[in-house]
Amino acid sequence: MKAQTAERKIPMLDLRLEYERMKEDVDRAIARCLEHQRWIFGPEVRELEEKVGVYLGAGHCVGASSGTEALVLALRSLAIKRGREYFDREDEIITTPFTFTATGDAILRSGATPVFMDIDPATYNIDTAKLKNYLESGPGRTVGLLPVHLYGCPCNMQEIMELARRFDLFVVEDVAQAFGGAFAGRKLGSIADAGAFSFFPSKNLGGFGDGGMLATDDAELAGIARMLIKHGGRDKYNVEHVGYNARLDTLQAAVVLSKLGHIDVLNGRRRAVAGIYSGTLAGMEEAITLPVSPPEGLHVYNQYTIRVRGVAPDGRKTGLRDGAREDLQGHLRRRGVDTMVYYPVPLHKMKLFYGRCVEPCRLDESEQAAKEVLSLPIEPFLPEQAVRHVAGLVREFFTSE
Ligand SMILES: Cc1ncc(COP(=O)(O)O)c(C=O)c1O
Repeated sequence: MKAQTAERKIPMLDLRLEYERMKEDVDRAIARCLEHQRWIFGPEVRELEEKVGVYLGAGHCVGASSGTEALVLALRSLAIKRGREYFDREDEIITTPFTFTATGDAILRSGATPVFMDIDPATYNIDTAKLKNYLESGPGRTVGLLPVHLYGCPCNMQEIMELARRFDLFVVEDVAQAFGGAFAGRKLGSIADAGAFSFFPSKNLGGFGDGGMLATDDAELAGIARMLIKHGGRDKYNVEHVGYNARLDTLQAAVVLSKLGHIDVLNGRRRAVAGIYSGTLAGMEEAITLPVSPPEGLHVYNQYTIRVRGVAPDGRKTGLRDGAREDLQGHLRRRGVDTMVYYPVPLHKMKLFYGRCVEPCRLDESEQAAKEVLSLPIEPFLPEQAVRHVAGLVREFFTSE
């Protein structure tokens, strides 16, 4: 019996589990596209934009070819609204270095300079106390904030919006990992000037390829973004801006649309999986740190990420050890369980950002997190038995000699 469980393979993500449950809806949505053949700006794109708008409580949604492009569209639209095609290098946009490359890269692509603020070690999101400090003492070059709801954990949007108002800054939410999450009763991505979502297949609302969405209450911003996704003009031959080919594909819109109605159930199941992990792994605080959700926030657990400190509760594996995370990862891999490290390298350590970013404070928490975080398999239909098995293997690693 023991040998049997040890051999069970648990991948980081098996998208077939979700597809099998939604096959009928998804297949029907794809079949409809095959019937009408309107692959570019087909009816599903507008329908998805409208339904996501209603779901979020956002006035306008614009489909985009990816989450990355949605971020770029948000920032470029904000620059254009201010009468400039791009931001200048002197314009600073604050984000964290503990995120996917696309967040920082989008700032560079908008012409501005990324300013990397450290994270709160508990939530992995921007440390609002350090942010406040910087804005109060800073050189006043900040034009905007780009908070990331990492792993699906909501940033403290109340504090962020207060700072934005006080210092006259725009805010774009990176909601790539947090569709359906909320802060103080408001859906993430609908609180700030704009929100950028990703429909990358592994995201909690994923398509069958790349896709994304920009959400905003600002009609002018949405109008500019609508031009930018199709080469920068109101129509093909009246081009006003340096645009992109960044439309959301009809087929992706259809797939995402067929899942949208189930998103609260899917996110609820993710929270249930996270609850089982957290319940089973409780009481090992010295060895691992479990994810937290801010009291006013609704976490959607796009990832269930622990922090591996390498100290056993009974002290057998004592001392913070470099490499403890890799040892645990190896242990799980040998027992057939895949895990991932999001993210091993903070952005300020990447060549792309050398000399092109500002580091206004020490980024110790981001650097420490990059050494310690480990994401365990999570998906809505991961069987409870599998979740308990993974958690049991983690526990076993710290309690065996
Ligand atoms: C935090 C974050 N921002 C932006 C992106 C970019 O999204 P996409 O892969 O759809 O371009 C991702 C997705 O990988 C992400 O995780």
